[in-house]
Amino acid sequence: MSMPHRAVRRLEKAETLDKVAKPVSSGAKRVVRPRLVRNLLSGTNLGHPLHPALTDVPIGAWTMAGLLDAVGGREAEPAADLLVKAGIVAAVPTAVTGLNDWSDTIGPERRVGLVHATANSTALTLYIASLVARARGDRRKGKALGFAGFGVMAISAYLGGHLTFVKGVNVNRTAWQQGPDEWTPVLAAAELAEGEHRTADADGVRILLHRTDGTVHALAATCSHMGGPLGEGTFEGGCVTCPWHGSTFRFADGGIERGPASTPQPCYETRIQDGRIEVRVPPAAAPAEVAEHRAHRARRRLARTPAT
Ligand code: FES
Repeated sequence: MSMPHRAVRRLEKAETLDKVAKPVSSGAKRVVRPRLVRNLLSGTNLGHPLHPALTDVPIGAWTMAGLLDAVGGREAEPAADLLVKAGIVAAVPTAVTGLNDWSDTIGPERRVGLVHATANSTALTLYIASLVARARGDRRKGKALGFAGFGVMAISAYLGGHLTFVKGVNVNRTAWQQGPDEWTPVLAAAELAEGEHRTADADGVRILLHRTDGTVHALAATCSHMGGPLGEGTFEGGCVTCPWHGSTFRFADGGIERGPASTPQPCYETRIQDGRIEVRVPPAAAPAEVAEHRAHRARRRLARTPAT
């Protein structure tokens, strides 16, 4: 295990951080609760979490400012100042969207997220001080503060990457769920009464079945946001609401009525055949993907077949 990884592991276990993380997280949850705010900050209407996309702006601007400060010479000074300013402006919405995402985390992710946010705030403060020094004509101090800000930002970026790529915060939990591309029986039709729901397995994927107005609907049962069990959610108005953070998905098409989810829930076709409910991935939705998926399965089956 590398040294940075060991350090992050220590942060993950630092329960003393919970004394600050818990109350701050509760406060943040209250602030982002309104649906409009939640959807906007989560990237629900974008189809992608907003925070990771926004981070590119301050990181890019401040990195380029550092480069110009280091080797740009006198002529590059106005451009370096402009980039420091642009990074400061962009850091505000970036921080707000990050706070929204962080409010859904618990345990080790929440602890690392708290340090990530603190480091970002420190970097922002250093860049603001750098800008003030530049405006006062103290370029040497302005550059030094900028380089210090860059160092803190780099550490913070590492922590942000750890949260996403190691801990899987805000990674679509249905990304690898394919579901059956052929009609597959999952439940006796008689076991699903009007207004009720059941979960069942189909080709290794947990499926949530719900009968409303005589129609059986099927969605992936694992919430795309952070893997919440939709089968334990609440059912209302043709939608299911996740019990973990309140994402609400339409049964008709898996679309999102309310974030924090930003990826629609996989939705399956259903039919009743010989008294059994059958489901499959809608072939018309993505014929190329289905064909590719079928070919992939055929190759897998072939690979598993023992040689004679
Ligand atoms: S796991 Fe977060 S809303 Fe479902």
